[in-house]
Amino acid sequence: MPSNEISTYYDDSESRETRPELRLATNLVNGPKVAIDCGCGAGSDIAFLRANDFTVHAFDIEEEAIIRCASRFERDENVFLSRSSFLDYSYPSASLIVADASLFFCRENEFSEIWSKMNQALLPCGVISVSFLGPDDTMAGPLYDKEKYWPHVLALTKGQVESLFLDYKIESFTEHTTSGTGPDGKPHHWHIFSVVAVKFP
Ligand SMILES: C[S@@+](CC[C@H](N)C(=O)[O-])C[C@H]1O[C@@H](n2cnc3c(N)ncnc32)[C@H](O)[C@@H]1O
Repeated sequence: MPSNEISTYYDDSESRETRPELRLATNLVNGPKVAIDCGCGAGSDIAFLRANDFTVHAFDIEEEAIIRCASRFERDENVFLSRSSFLDYSYPSASLIVADASLFFCRENEFSEIWSKMNQALLPCGVISVSFLGPDDTMAGPLYDKEKYWPHVLALTKGQVESLFLDYKIESFTEHTTSGTGPDGKPHHWHIFSVVAVKFP
């Protein structure tokens, strides 16, 4: 059973605005429009990808996310949903891989295998749109409530993020740093790296 906080997060993010990085990424895709949404949540990125004619393979570890997406896209034959973790998912070949605000919750000791699976699934000249938690984010510190949200947190430095893209041409690399109020109503500092990159042929 997900926590009330996770359900509320899905309610709030269901119809959120599409992030500019995903808009850029979809515009960069050449060839077959096949995307994987890793950690799809309530499905707002799936909806954008479908509106842009992508066939979408999407997965999430939370049953509630998959139930919500199954209902939302029940009449859509071009959305393929799986309840799976990053590590266990069978990644199909794709021209676009999206992992927005989801690898934040990857187990540290599994990340390199997961990253390698994603890279293998991405076709030459394929596009990846991914975000990583930075070390200064509140979620990377002791105030993050692992009981209410996802239990594992992965934070990477800028250098660590850059080193993941040696086989890519980086089209956009943004370090977001803002402070405000988090979903729990408490002060929150966001530190997020968003990257859009094209795999070398
Ligand atoms: C902050 S939400 C982001 C959801 C969506 N990508 C978005 O931007 O709206 C993070 C998502 O990652 C999923 N997640 C967390 N750990 C995961 C794992 N190990 N494997 C797959 N999905 C995971 C969560 O269930 C959640 O739906």
